[in-house]
Amino acid sequence: MDADEMQGWLNCWEKDTAPWHIHHVHEAIEKYHEILAASPTAKNKIFIPLCGKTVDIKYLADRGNEVVGLEASEIAVRDFFTEQNIEYTSEDVPAVKGKLYRSSDKMIKIYCCDLFLFSAEVESGFSGIWDRGSLIAMSQADQKRYIGLIKTLTYPGIGYLLEMPDRDPNIGPPFSVPLDVLETGFGPGCRVVQLSEVVKNPPEFLSMPGVKGNHVYRISFQ
Ligand SMILES: C[S@@+](CC[C@H](N)C(=O)[O-])C[C@H]1O[C@@H](n2cnc3c(N)ncnc32)[C@H](O)[C@@H]1O
Repeated sequence: MDADEMQGWLNCWEKDTAPWHIHHVHEAIEKYHEILAASPTAKNKIFIPLCGKTVDIKYLADRGNEVVGLEASEIAVRDFFTEQNIEYTSEDVPAVKGKLYRSSDKMIKIYCCDLFLFSAEVESGFSGIWDRGSLIAMSQADQKRYIGLIKTLTYPGIGYLLEMPDRDPNIGPPFSVPLDVLETGFGPGCRVVQLSEVVKNPPEFLSMPGVKGNHVYRISFQ
C-alpha cells in the first residue's frame, strides 16, 4: 500500500466520510459469531483486521471474546471507544510503529498501525478472524501481501468469515477476489464456501458499478 492510498483512507476519517460503516451489528456476526469463538486449539480470541469503528467489536466482546482489532486511523479508533462508551488506555508499540488502545476491562485491544507492520509475533492464537471491508479494501497487488500475512495467523480449524461483493474483480474498491484465486492464494487445504447473502447493506452499496450482490463466506484450512 503506497503512502497516497493510506492517506486516502486517513482522509476519509478526517472528513468524517465512512460510507462502509454500518450502525448495526453485522447480520453474519449475529448469526455465525460462534464460528469465530472456538477452534480446536483456541477459544474466544477474535481478530478483526482493518476494523474501522465497527460495532461488531463490542458485540463480540460482550459475548466473552477478547477482540483484537487493527486500524490505521486514530480517529476511527478513538471514535469507536467514545461512541461505544468504553473506557480505554493507549500506549506506544514500537514493533508496529503505532499504538495499542485497550479497553479498561482488557476485552478489547485495537492496534493503531499499518496492517503490513503487524505480524504473528505481535499477536496470534486467534480462534477466529472477521474480515469485512479488509481484503476487499486492498488493491490487487496488496491483496496478495494481505493473504500472505493473514495466512500466518491461520491454522486448521480456525473460524474465518469473509464478506465479499459479487463484482468484476477489476473494478473497485471494493475489489472482489474470485474464489479459486482466494483458495490458491491461501494455499493447499484452503476451502472457501458461501454461507449467506448479505441483506442489510450500506445505502447505495448495491448500486455501485458492477456490484451484483454481497455474500459472506467461510474460509477453512485443513
Ligand atoms: C472499508 S473500511 C472497513 C472498516 C470495517 N472493517 C467495517 O466493516 O466497518 C477499511 C478500513 O481499513 C483501514 N485501512 C486501510 N488500509 C489499512 C492498512 N494498510 N492498515 C490498517 N488499516 C487500514 C481504513 O482506515 C478503513 O477504516
